[in-house]
Amino acid sequence: MDYRIFNSDEIDHQQCYRLLIGSIVPRPIAWVSSMDEDGVPNLAPFSFFSIVSHYPPLVTITVGEKEKHHKDTSANIAATKGYVIHTVTEGWENQMNESSASLPRNVSEFEHIGIETEPSDLVDAPRIKGCPVAMECEYQQTLEFGDDWKTYVVIGKVLRWHVREDLMLDDKYVNPHLLKPIGRLGGPRYCHTDDIFEMQAPYVQPDIGHPNTGERN
Ligand SMILES: Cc1cc2nc3c(=O)[nH]c(=O)nc-3n(C[C@H](O)[C@H](O)[C@H](O)COP(=O)(O)O)c2cc1C
Repeated sequence: MDYRIFNSDEIDHQQCYRLLIGSIVPRPIAWVSSMDEDGVPNLAPFSFFSIVSHYPPLVTITVGEKEKHHKDTSANIAATKGYVIHTVTEGWENQMNESSASLPRNVSEFEHIGIETEPSDLVDAPRIKGCPVAMECEYQQTLEFGDDWKTYVVIGKVLRWHVREDLMLDDKYVNPHLLKPIGRLGGPRYCHTDDIFEMQAPYVQPDIGHPNTGERN
């Protein structure tokens, strides 16, 4: 079997980007609502998005620089602390994509695209009205990497979930069949999640028992 070898210190940033977004797939998309210090709300998608820890419930998005400055999202989160991450699901693809356009800092994507909001309970940033899952988050920390191109790893704690009632399975889980999340692939490609299969793990998972005690709930 032949393989192409790429050493990260021998390729430029664009090729690193292509290989990362092609290899780490599919990625969930954090659709992030934040608020600047003047009260202007902002909305943008981020697929460099993951769980840091489940307890405490910490999540991360990674925001690159734009023209040597913070993007609105990382600047807003560091300034006003509270933000909301929405799960992108079928039916919301186009609005999510439109919200990635570069708009002037004082223009809200919500108004520009015509996305309705509703107030959050615990943070200033609004929620997207009708989005099936939203997580109100509190800023914890930013890790900074890079030299002439900076990248900001923004870590936040989930304070509260809003899960649409009909999506709850056994009053515990979010039903992925009904949620229909969208995944990001390499380039301009995305995927649906309508071919779901099950496999039992050969260990007790943390949703069943505590990893350090072996207790099962
Ligand atoms: C599906 C999708 C995923 C994206 N993921 C990221 C990401 O992980 N990091 C990033 O810096 N930009 C990402 N972008 C680009 C940002 O959404 C875009 O730069 C946006 O204008 C940032 O908005 P802001 O300046 O209002 O924060 C993504 C765009 C799309 C459409």
